[in-house]
Amino acid sequence: MNETVYKYVRDSETVITELMIPSYANFGGKIHGGTLLSLMDKVAYVCGSKHAGEYCVTASIDTVDFLHPVDVGDLVSLMASINYVGKSSMVIGIRVTSQNVKTQQEIHTNTSYFTMVAKDENNKLSQVPGLILETPQEVRRFAEAIIRKQLKHSFKQEILKVKNEVDIQKALDLLVNERCRVELK
Ligand SMILES: CC(C)(COP(=O)(O)OP(=O)(O)OC[C@H]1O[C@@H](n2cnc3c(N)ncnc32)[C@H](O)[C@@H]1OP(=O)(O)O)[C@@H](O)C(=O)NCCC(=O)NCCS
Repeated sequence: MNETVYKYVRDSETVITELMIPSYANFGGKIHGGTLLSLMDKVAYVCGSKHAGEYCVTASIDTVDFLHPVDVGDLVSLMASINYVGKSSMVIGIRVTSQNVKTQQEIHTNTSYFTMVAKDENNKLSQVPGLILETPQEVRRFAEAIIRKQLKHSFKQEILKVKNEVDIQKALDLLVNERCRVELK
């Protein structure tokens, strides 16, 4: 990819709307979380590939909290846009809403950030175009993605430290008021 290529956020903005059919439901009659995750992956892929001009893979997801259940018959809309680009990676912000067709009531069900990485036909990392930020919101989203990336890096370091520091005695101390029974053999 030519290093001087830049693209607008609006060039790759993507919206997918899908009707929630009965086969997407769990035994409680609500839509499976996995169905929504799959749709989010799909819209992230479309958005990322449009920006990159290459196929992409999903590297990570930060984070998915389902705020409201989604019903069979609802229309789920997923709005995706590029928030940040690195060299081969792109952070794609996805806002998911569900709408009751009859009442027209729309509910925000979640917002997540997918990191997609562009690869070429030889499965090698491929540099993606830079991003042209036209609005204060686009500038804010880019900056927030940088901050999340830094926080994630610190979090990973802390988790590694925890893994190395928790010995059996420390673990047993932590379990004192938890709902588990230790039966060490
Ligand atoms: C994600 C993947 C491409 C990273 O490849 P890699 O050889 O480790 O490459 P690097 O460490 O150089 O990372 C490449 C880019 O991905 C980013 N990246 C890698 N792992 C990441 C993660 N867990 N979260 C966010 N970004 C990540 C790096 O920051 C880097 O970004 P940059 O090019 O913009 O600087 C590789 O691990 C992979 O192909 N994973 C499987 C993806 C897949 O199959 N997804 C579907 C899941 S079922």
